[in-house]
Amino acid sequence: MATIKLAPSILTADFGRLADEARAAEAGGADLLHLDVMDGQFVPVITFGPLVVEAIRKATELPLDIHLMIVEPERQIAAFAELASTINVHIEVSPHINRTLDGIRKLGARCGVCINPGTPVSAIEESLAEVDQVMVMTINPGWGGQQMIPRQLDKVRRIRELIDEGGYGAEIMIDGGVKVANAALCAQAGAHTLVCGSSVYNREASVAESLARLRAAVERV
Ligand code: DX5
Ligand code: ZN
Repeated sequence: MATIKLAPSILTADFGRLADEARAAEAGGADLLHLDVMDGQFVPVITFGPLVVEAIRKATELPLDIHLMIVEPERQIAAFAELASTINVHIEVSPHINRTLDGIRKLGARCGVCINPGTPVSAIEESLAEVDQVMVMTINPGWGGQQMIPRQLDKVRRIRELIDEGGYGAEIMIDGGVKVANAALCAQAGAHTLVCGSSVYNREASVAESLARLRAAVERV
């Protein structure tokens, strides 16, 4: 199995020391950094916007994976495009998803589509040929530290089959509730990249220690 990429999410990091927290992920061997942009409408919480992403951009060389949990994401794409490696938009708020994905590509970033636990796979089926990444939400988005909804891994398997059957280049990212105990299951289900929020930024261990444990868990697969 190909090497699984680990994408720490800063949502549970210390926001007073974000630059240090980003650098800790880079030093600890993260493959990319996952940034959760929330607007208080699509999800109840408000987090941060392009100004904070720009500050993080200056602090680390890691590719930035931007997860837009906002309504009308197409209106904000340009503000993130130069800062991001990948911009991910939710299917639930993207009535013209393929146009939006194309717009992200034209601005020079990879494009991703995110799918909530309550949304069927069929909602993104016609976009699988158009995307660089499918982000399967294994929690209902809004907060870090939630438990993974295990049946969402079936959805990962189905999407992986569709991608492989179609010969598409899209990669699968899993977001929500990834822990040392379930990371191998996520990899076996067909994920290429795992978002790890509270399993990396927590009070129990350093960022480097947490990343090393997750790395060991996926390398056993
Ligand atoms: C939640 C975010 C996630 C969050 C994951 O809506 O999209 O990226 O940071 O946190 P954990 O890994 O703690 O579930
Ligand atoms: Zn996220």
